Amino acid sequence: MKFFIDTADIAEIRDLAATGLVDGVTTNPSLIAKTGKDFIATVKEIASIVPGPVSAEVTATDFPTMLKEGQKLAKIARNITVKVPLTPDGLKTCKALSDSGTMVNVTLCFSAAQAILAAKAGASFISPFVGRLDDIATDGMQLIEDIVTIYAQYPAIKTEVLVASVRHPVHVVDAARMGAHVATLPPNVLRQMFQHPLTDKGLAAFLADWKKTGQSILGAEDGAAKAAE
Ligand code: E4P
Repeated sequence: MKFFIDTADIAEIRDLAATGLVDGVTTNPSLIAKTGKDFIATVKEIASIVPGPVSAEVTATDFPTMLKEGQKLAKIARNITVKVPLTPDGLKTCKALSDSGTMVNVTLCFSAAQAILAAKAGASFISPFVGRLDDIATDGMQLIEDIVTIYAQYPAIKTEVLVASVRHPVHVVDAARMGAHVATLPPNVLRQMFQHPLTDKGLAAFLADWKKTGQSILGAEDGAAKAAE
């Protein structure tokens, strides 16, 4: 399973990319607005930090302008994925960009029917929003299971299921169990995934016992080499 991080915060992206666990980044207009920084410059910088797909979203709503925006965004870097909303004009844009070899992430997906349309439009990624469905008392993860199952019926579909609007590690574990290709994680969710109280407790006990030995791995003489002398 691939992990993207769902932020436009450069410091967060640098910090988490250093773990070696980040395969890509997703941004949206709200995340860009939160940074208060220039959109194009920000996306360019992100694309230089992370070699994998970096989603940059169009903001027009009509096909001709969306297409122009998408073409402009795609020129920023070779790893840019143009993000379009799941509307008729968005899917028209998706088809045109995909046909010309640009990766497209279709966002704001809330139904399996929409996901089928995105696959037909040649999307590289479909982004179903699980957290926002949960928020309205609808099972977000059921949608992931449905889309993964439907796409698996058609080997010709190359669209990857990118689980979005992730709120906690359980969403990630469930998505992995269902075989989703990618999850885009807010930085705090990726950090939470490392955590377990028994890991902390176990490590503290190991270190306390190790201290009692008075030894140091890096400071130790190589016993085997010494014996061979
Ligand atoms: C990612 O591509 C989406 O824009 C993002 O996951 C939405 O998350 P939210 O519902 O927490 O805003």
